[in-house]
Amino acid sequence: MAQEEIAGAPLRTAVLPVAGLGTRFLPATKAQPKEMLPIVDKPLVQYAVEEVAASGIPMVIFVTGRGKEAIENHFDVSFELEHQLAGRGKEELRSLVRAVAGLAKVCYVRQQQARGLGDAILTARGLVGDEPFAVVLSDDVIEAPVPCLRQMMKVYAHYGRSVVAIQRVSHRQVSNYGIVQGVPESRHHWDGRVFRIQNMVEKPSPGKAPSNLAIIGRYILTPGVFHQLATTQPGAGGEVQLTDAMRHLLEREPIYGCVFEGQRYDAGDKLGFLKATVELALKRPDLGSDFRKYLRSLLLSRSGPRSPSGNRP
Ligand code: G1P
Repeated sequence: MAQEEIAGAPLRTAVLPVAGLGTRFLPATKAQPKEMLPIVDKPLVQYAVEEVAASGIPMVIFVTGRGKEAIENHFDVSFELEHQLAGRGKEELRSLVRAVAGLAKVCYVRQQQARGLGDAILTARGLVGDEPFAVVLSDDVIEAPVPCLRQMMKVYAHYGRSVVAIQRVSHRQVSNYGIVQGVPESRHHWDGRVFRIQNMVEKPSPGKAPSNLAIIGRYILTPGVFHQLATTQPGAGGEVQLTDAMRHLLEREPIYGCVFEGQRYDAGDKLGFLKATVELALKRPDLGSDFRKYLRSLLLSRSGPRSPSGNRP
């Protein structure tokens, strides 16, 4: 174990790209960032920052864009709100909102044009500096006994190389993801969860996918990826793809894939967002039991729910 502590330099920063337009959730995202859509009562982006904090990474760099000011306000202290809550004796709520501002040290850099995930990461280069860093995509909400990033940090600490989170998906879904081809690491203590990656392709058609191992939105990257990003041409969807830069990086250094333990919700998609809302609400101590009763009371038919009394028009 002591040896595992040495290989990777400590991770100080996590980059969270939040400049996307959120077109899949229009009109809800016309005047508010997609990242601020709440799952139950917490914005999507807060789940991501909480995972970073729970993994022991102290600094978050948001790559933002026009219209994303609500995110800055969310992670700042709100004196007026706290003052009013304190005045009304709502101490619990006051500490709840204050805690959000204390989750991480934050800084912001703006991506001037939506040129893709790879370009967003390159925008953070000056703030990250010449050291390894994490990337978290807040669309992917991951519920896990050990935070997904922390699971990956164990692999990173061992090899001192880049690590991406991976998950098996169905073959018809491969074209929604970056797909990796990898060889399982034989070390028995990884329990078959760690792969040495040999190739990766962004959003391949099912016929061209090298496997069904999909990249999920958690990365630990060495700074070498910046050199690759600087020369990576637009790829899938006409955007500069992080997957393409990592594939170039593979020619210079190894990259590992980690099949994480936990439940991942694709909250960037409407159905995934609904599933996350239902499942996370069911897990809430203050809501779960009433919500479960309510869901049970719905008589689900092919055309939709009917109330138990049958008084649906
Ligand atoms: C991005 C990455 C893709 C990855 C996915 C995970 O795609 O480009 O490689 O598999 O996140 O959620 P996006 O979903 O932003 O199109």
